[in-house]
Amino acid sequence: MSVYKSLYDTMPDGREVYVYKIENNNGVYVELLTRGATLSSFVCPDRDGNMGDIIMGFDSLAGHLATTTYAGQIIGQYANRICDGRFTLGGREYNVTKNENGVTCLHGGDEYSSALWKAIITDDNAVEFSYHSPDGAEGFPGNVDITVQYVLTDHGELEIHYAATSDKDTVMNFTNHAYFNLGTVQSGDILGTVLQLNCDSFTPTDARSIPTGEIRPVEGTAFDFRAPKPIGRDIGADDEQLRQCKGYDHNFCINGEAGTLRLAAKALDEGCGRKLEVWTDLPGIQLYTGNFLDGSETGKGGVALQKHYGFCLETQYYPDTPNQPAFPSCERKAGETFRSLTIFKV
Ligand code: GLA
Repeated sequence: MSVYKSLYDTMPDGREVYVYKIENNNGVYVELLTRGATLSSFVCPDRDGNMGDIIMGFDSLAGHLATTTYAGQIIGQYANRICDGRFTLGGREYNVTKNENGVTCLHGGDEYSSALWKAIITDDNAVEFSYHSPDGAEGFPGNVDITVQYVLTDHGELEIHYAATSDKDTVMNFTNHAYFNLGTVQSGDILGTVLQLNCDSFTPTDARSIPTGEIRPVEGTAFDFRAPKPIGRDIGADDEQLRQCKGYDHNFCINGEAGTLRLAAKALDEGCGRKLEVWTDLPGIQLYTGNFLDGSETGKGGVALQKHYGFCLETQYYPDTPNQPAFPSCERKAGETFRSLTIFKV
């Protein structure tokens, strides 16, 4: 195992951005940027041993700074959406950033995802990123200190350990917003990738992508990924949920106990043989099929990032939980530590 730090580039304001490369004994490696604590590459072999990068992303800092996709970034303080950018906690109303159509809070704005995180090498296969979010940033209560530790094992597991503490009661929901393309982005769209989700139900949304509160069984719908099927098989189905999101952009409820590490998703590119497993202790996982990619951003190798050129499996609390008392709670008391683990295994 080895881990190296090097200068990646310099921000327009002169601050330095570093890249950390963790490589295991099989030549599998990840690259991580201090900007957004971003997972910028995950390189692993196909069935013939050809190494390829399964992360849709960018070749330059300029690409990472310009993107509106949140590609590879750590998202906080609340991943996914909060209805009307507003919630009540402890009898007090909080108004948070309304960065989607001036109405909805999406991914907590861009505070965590665009911050320059501190980083330290904690082992020969681990890097820990840390960030301090001041009280009231993007409207969220509490001074929050967060660490995100990435660990790469010889079994091809990229563990992402989250730990965060606030000095006020608050809501927390962190995720990594990586887009995967198991054939590499040069192979085109991900509609042929075979996906299996360990999820019996999902949370349907209204036209603003806000959960209605219903927990709907996937049985008999296009959302049934309990048996493996190509992502694209039912994506064009005559289903209001798919029409309004232009594809999948939905939270699935992971079977089994939240708080327990369990397999949430499995994906396989049958063409090249690269696969991905997602394990998490969180209650939900957002399947987002890159519906808003439109070719206007240029990714690695000069490839225009077209619709469906990557898929995301964002482990999370359900969207809009702060306004949905029946959903598993994302509240954390002052001084209480939020802890969570997600594993991307290739
Ligand atoms: C999440 C959301 C999508 C989209 C992307 C970023 O996956 O659910 O609707 O906003 O982030 O483009």
